[in-house]
Order: sequence, then structure tokens, then C-alpha cells
Amino acid sequence: MGLWSKKSIAQLQGEEGTTHELRRTLSGFHLMLLGVGAIIGAGIFVVTGTAAAQHAGPAIALAFVMAGVGCLFAGLCYAEFAAMIPVAGSAYTYGYATLGELVAWSIGWDLMLEYLFASSAVAVGWSGYFTAFLRDYLHWQLPPELTSAPFDVRPGSHIPHATGALINLPAVLLVGLLTSLLVVGVHESARVNNIIVFVKIGVVLLVIGFGAAYVNTDNWKPFIPENTGRFGEFGWSGVLSGAGVIFFAYIGFDAVSTAAQETRNPQKDLPVGILGSLAICTLLYVLMALVMTGLAHYSTLNVPEPVYVAIANAGPALAWLRPIVSLGAISGLASVVLVMLMGQPRIFYAMARDGLLPPFFGRVHPRFRTPYIATLITGVVSMVVAGLFPIGLLGELVSIGTLFAFVVVCAGILVLRYQKPDLPRPFRTPFVPVVPVLGILICGTLMLGLGLATWLRLLVWMALGFGIYFGYGRKHSRIGHQESAAAAPPAPPGGQP
Ligand code: ALA
Repeated sequence: MGLWSKKSIAQLQGEEGTTHELRRTLSGFHLMLLGVGAIIGAGIFVVTGTAAAQHAGPAIALAFVMAGVGCLFAGLCYAEFAAMIPVAGSAYTYGYATLGELVAWSIGWDLMLEYLFASSAVAVGWSGYFTAFLRDYLHWQLPPELTSAPFDVRPGSHIPHATGALINLPAVLLVGLLTSLLVVGVHESARVNNIIVFVKIGVVLLVIGFGAAYVNTDNWKPFIPENTGRFGEFGWSGVLSGAGVIFFAYIGFDAVSTAAQETRNPQKDLPVGILGSLAICTLLYVLMALVMTGLAHYSTLNVPEPVYVAIANAGPALAWLRPIVSLGAISGLASVVLVMLMGQPRIFYAMARDGLLPPFFGRVHPRFRTPYIATLITGVVSMVVAGLFPIGLLGELVSIGTLFAFVVVCAGILVLRYQKPDLPRPFRTPFVPVVPVLGILICGTLMLGLGLATWLRLLVWMALGFGIYFGYGRKHSRIGHQESAAAAPPAPPGGQP
């Protein structure tokens, strides 16, 4: 019975009242900034180049549209849940309300792939731009052994091999610094984040605005390069694979929902935050992808700093833009790492509150009022992963994990609409069942575009998660215990069994 235990919506909404230790300081506008801060990052600044060069060519812009549409449908479903159940924990909490504890645990565990590994992946992307900045503007060349991953996997292989490098030190130091900031308090960190988000949007607009004038339209021909004969290498299958790979670039808008407990008016602010940030980013991504593949031939973009390389291709006229792109990427990517590091402890917090993780994961700092232990654990794991693995491997894992969570969220909306049609819904997903069904189909198709090796890694990760659930969570679940207590025969008079 415990496996399928559900939390009632009333129970969840009640929890909102009892777990207000976290400060309520964020508005809809803050959330939108938080969303854009989480979304625009290593995806557009790094992965676009790789995906264009290896999968889609200039049609990477089309891949962005495809992935954006999948996110839009999932985002509409997210917004309904997030406004209805404004408690920390995001898709994990929604799963608990609709599909039962085992599914909720799977989503929560799966979301760790998203937040924890995304913070590491983006830190690795940041390290690439940071190292290039030191090299080009401060003439300080860091040794490659200290700036790249000691492990990598060859295409088609499942087993990592040693690269000869020791550690990606800049990535590790960045995560350490941001973790300390988050332990001190969300409001302070959100303020820093707001400034950086404006810088990041400004840089992207500069690249689009000034780069557009130097686009060579010959670089766009053919727009969809011919397939090489292998699935995912150009042609339409390449666009699909490209969409799966750059899906990573959209990840983050759901981080908005993890801050639900820190929002002043969740019913109104969450949909504004989620859908607003998604709309802004889709537009910027498509334009940026067109400009990048127009400035430089797609085959030349498979580098750690492709935006920088595309700008350089425009010649001396845009030389002034290069240091700006560099600084924008450095501050912008750092803000993504910050939001991801902030999202993960809140999922830990929700799972610990439900008894599925040990209670110390949910401990809130008496003075800073942040979930400091979960934040420190997140930071340490993220540092280790960022220090050891490359962005390609981490990015694909993050994409598949998030797509899976989105599929479950869309399914959850369908289930709840039919099971509990009368629940108050401050924000209703439009055109149900069309939107959730399309969300499931598009996100599922994007998952198919990712390679077998990535699927295997997802399965191994999930198997590990089930091990922990059956070893710990199931025995300690609060809801499971409440149900067994309710089902037990009443104690005989006199108190002795
Ligand atoms: N969407 C985030 C990025 O692109 C993960 O960096």
C-alpha cells in the first residue's frame, strides 16, 4: 500500500502553513528573473556549438523551437501544479499528490540528475570561458591538467577513460564559492542574481543585434545538412538529436517552482515566473542560434567557447564585443550554477520532511533560515562531479533526467483532472488533454533522440535510487506510517495488546 500512498492536496496546502520557516520574499518579477537566470547559461553559450557541429547544422535553430515547444507544454502543466500546490519540492511534490510515493520518489531522485548535475555541467562550461578570459585578456595560461576533466567517454562507449588531466579546478572553486553564498541566505543571493541576469540578457542582445549585421547567409545553406547515414548526424534525425542535446539549454524554468515557499503570492507569481521566463528565453535562443550559425560555419563551432569564436569570425569590426561576451558568459553561467545549487536543497528539504530522506537533510539554519545542511551536501557533491567529468556527458544526463520528470508532470495533470476535477486551480493548463498529451509526446520523442549510452546511465541512476528508497525511504515515510496507523486495529481497552 505504501508504494502508492498519496498526499492529499489539502495536506500539501496545510503543509504550506506549517513549514513557513523559509522567508517569503520573492515576487513574480523576481521569479521571472530567477527563471531566466537559471535558463540562459552553458546551453546557449557552449552546447549550441557542439550540437550544431555534430547533429543539426544551422537547423539547430529549428531544434531550439522543437525543444522550446516541448518545454512550453510541460511549463503549462508545471504552472497548474505550482500554483495549486505552492510548496517546496517542485515535480516531486506534484508526483506525491497524484501518482503516489514510489513515483514521487523516482521523480525526486531523477530531479537530482537535473539540479545537482546541471550545476556541475554549467560550472564546467563556466570554466571554459573563464580560462579563455584569463588567457586572452590577463595573459595567464592555466595548465590544461588543472582546467579539464580527468574522465571522458568516447562516442558510443559506456566506460569512462582517463584523459591525463587532474581536475577542473576553476569549476570546483566556483561551486564552492556559490555554496557559501547560499548558506548565508536566499534573499542576498537572489539580489546578486538579479544584477547578473540583466548583464546576461544584455550580452545576448548585443550578440544578436550587432552579429546580425555580419551574418553570411551562405553559412545557412543547406539549412538542414544531409544526413550522413547514421541516426542523429544531420538530416531530420539530426534535428531531433540536436533538440534532445540542447534541451539542456531550457532547463531551469522549473527551478522557479522550487522557490514556491519563498514566494509572496504563489498563485499569481508562479505562472508569471515560469511562462514569462520560458517565452523570453525561447525567443533569444532561436535568434542567437541563427546569428551564431550565420557568422561562422557550423562545422567550426565545436569548441568550448563557440559564441566567442562566432564573433571572432566577423573580423575586427566586432572585436570590441569579445571581452563583453566573455565577461557576460562568466557572470551569466555563474548565476545558473547559483540557481541550480539553490533548487536542489529545496528538493532534499521536501523529501526529508516526508521521511524519505534522513531528517538532517531538512534542517533549517536558526539564523540564516536556509536549508544549510542540504545546501552543503549539494555543494560538495557538485564540486566533485564538476571536477571530474566533461560538460557533454553531464549535459546529456541532465537532459534525459529532466525530460523524464516533465513527462511525469504532464501525466500527473491528466490524472488529477480526471480524479479530482473540482479542486480549486488558480491557474488552469489550457486545452487539457491536448496540452499534456502533446507535452508527453514531445518530451518522450526528445528522450528518444538521446543516445543508448545516456539511456543506460539513466537506468543505472534510477536503479540506485530504488535501492535507497526500499532500503530507507519506504521504512521511514511519514505518509506510509500514517496510513498503517490508520489501518491498524484499535488498541484494546487497558492498553495491553
Ligand atoms: N539551462 C541551463 C544552461 O543552459 C542549464 O546552462
